[in-house]
Amino acid sequence: MNSIDGYPVIDTDICNQCQKCIALCPGRALTMNGVLPDKASKVKQDWYGDFLNLLRTRRSTKTFQKNDIPEGIIRKIVESGAYAPNQNKNITVLAISDPLLIQNINEHALNFIQMLYNLFFSVKPLSALIGLFSNSWQVIKKKMERDLVYNKSIVKKNTNVLLFAVGNPRTPVTEASAQYILSTMSLTAHSLGIGSTLMDSLKMSVNMNRKLRRELGFLSSDRVLGVLALGYSAEKIMNIPQGYDIPFFMNKISRE
Ligand SMILES: Cc1cc2nc3c(=O)[nH]c(=O)nc-3n(C[C@H](O)[C@H](O)[C@H](O)COP(=O)(O)O)c2cc1C
Repeated sequence: MNSIDGYPVIDTDICNQCQKCIALCPGRALTMNGVLPDKASKVKQDWYGDFLNLLRTRRSTKTFQKNDIPEGIIRKIVESGAYAPNQNKNITVLAISDPLLIQNINEHALNFIQMLYNLFFSVKPLSALIGLFSNSWQVIKKKMERDLVYNKSIVKKNTNVLLFAVGNPRTPVTEASAQYILSTMSLTAHSLGIGSTLMDSLKMSVNMNRKLRRELGFLSSDRVLGVLALGYSAEKIMNIPQGYDIPFFMNKISRE
């Protein structure tokens, strides 16, 4: 921060409105839009246990119940995204709860994925060529077949709300910020008894569909940067598998 006559001056060219200055101001002299900040409580040692429990019991929900989430709860989930790391503060959240609109989005996504499938996998020589360069194409192909043939749906059944993080992806940090916001919302949802799952498979089909973009009120620069599906979970988490230990090293990765 620069200073004039001993008083700090905010450089608006580089300020990303992170509000750290407000967070650190001992005299509560700084405000944003005139709103006096709440006093922060100290981080307690015993938060860790509850927080870890929250993390350990969250799973992506693939089956939802039919019940509607009250709007107040949707607001709480969305508002919690304000506390996620966010570099640009230029992300808008669009909550879609209209069942017809969700059905419409699903149909567009199905058509889009079918089109990709036909393009890459129905022309034998092309799919053989792709297969030579990438093993993961087989996995992608199988996942597409699962959604197109077995599930016949991209959106999970009974999804109650789709949260779209929308913005202009001028920089990679905007996309990353959108994902941090959505993952924070996913944890908040879990703390409120609401199931969720990230749905990146919907991004491209919505971004590329003009009619749908217009229906959703998008500007031409708007892109869906991430999607979180919400609903009351129909799944009961009984166990916490210990499957994946994150490879962890100090100072240097050793690959024996
Ligand atoms: C970036 C990202 C995108 C995802 N997109 C989808 C998706 O499009 N469809 C879906 O069913 N699950 C999606 N998932 C959820 C994953 O399937 C799920 O997170 C993964 O299987 C791990 O399960 P867990 O979240 O219960 O630990 C996505 C997850 C991540 C991290």
